[in-house]
Amino acid sequence: MPSKRRVISVSGKGGTGKTTLTALLLKALIKHTDDILVVDADPATNLPDVLGVKVLKTVGMVTDELKDRIARGVISPMVSKEGMLEAWIFETLVETNCFDLLAMGRSEGEGCYCYVNSVLTRILDTLSRNYTYTLMDMEAGLEHLSRRTDRDVDTMLITTDASKMGLETARRIKELTQEVHINVKEIYLVGNQIPEGMEGVLKEAAERIGLELIGIIPTDPNVATYNMLGKPLLEIPEDSPSYRAVLKIAEKIGLR
Ligand SMILES: Nc1ncnc2c1ncn2[C@@H]1O[C@H](COP(=O)(O)OP(=O)(O)OP(=O)(O)O)[C@@H](O)[C@H]1O
Ligand SMILES: [Mg+2]
Repeated sequence: MPSKRRVISVSGKGGTGKTTLTALLLKALIKHTDDILVVDADPATNLPDVLGVKVLKTVGMVTDELKDRIARGVISPMVSKEGMLEAWIFETLVETNCFDLLAMGRSEGEGCYCYVNSVLTRILDTLSRNYTYTLMDMEAGLEHLSRRTDRDVDTMLITTDASKMGLETARRIKELTQEVHINVKEIYLVGNQIPEGMEGVLKEAAERIGLELIGIIPTDPNVATYNMLGKPLLEIPEDSPSYRAVLKIAEKIGLR
């Protein structure tokens, strides 16, 4: 059966607005559907806070528990480890009225657990097939590419601020995507907190690294205020400059 899903990931240099863009894209998407899986793939697990969602257990925590049980030899050979991990991961899924959220967290276990990792990959793949949209907030930088967390992404959005390092990271992400043969259908650059009048400069810089600039998000005092007060970004006023900019991006990539 063909999959109905569309997977969108947000990556980029640290602090360039990945989590903010993910939250605002989610705000745009929940206008149309509640068939959304949000994945916080950043080990720092910031997204739940920004969305006002409580996460008690991450995938990393339950994976560690399984590794620990394997290491201690306390799992009966009669029990399917894969089935067990799958059930535990489903238990970590947070369901809200508007979307479901999975927090990957961090896995501390030592040693090679390729088996566990490959099961994890497969379970995530299966899980995301149950949703029309999967929205992933990635870890800063490039590491996620070597772990192939992005392998099934349809639309990759790379955030950058107005810095050479932001653009350099964007270029490396695009390059690595090709090097590790990740089959992404479309990749776009998103400029965040770009000072007025710099759009042209950024557009040219994007072209030089072979990326299409799909939109620019202005610095928005509402984002700062909501973050500082710990209020969910989903509740930001509809006429907030950042949200209006993200609505345009959502429309351009066909999220409606
Ligand atoms: N358009 C914006 N207007 C105002 N503040 C913003 C904007 N975008 C991001 N910020 C602020 O900048 C900081 C970093 O943003 P954010 O957390 O979204 O970046 P990130 O790329 O997810 O960071 P990390 O790499 O640490 O995960 C946050 O405090 C956020 O509130
Ligand atoms: Mg973040």
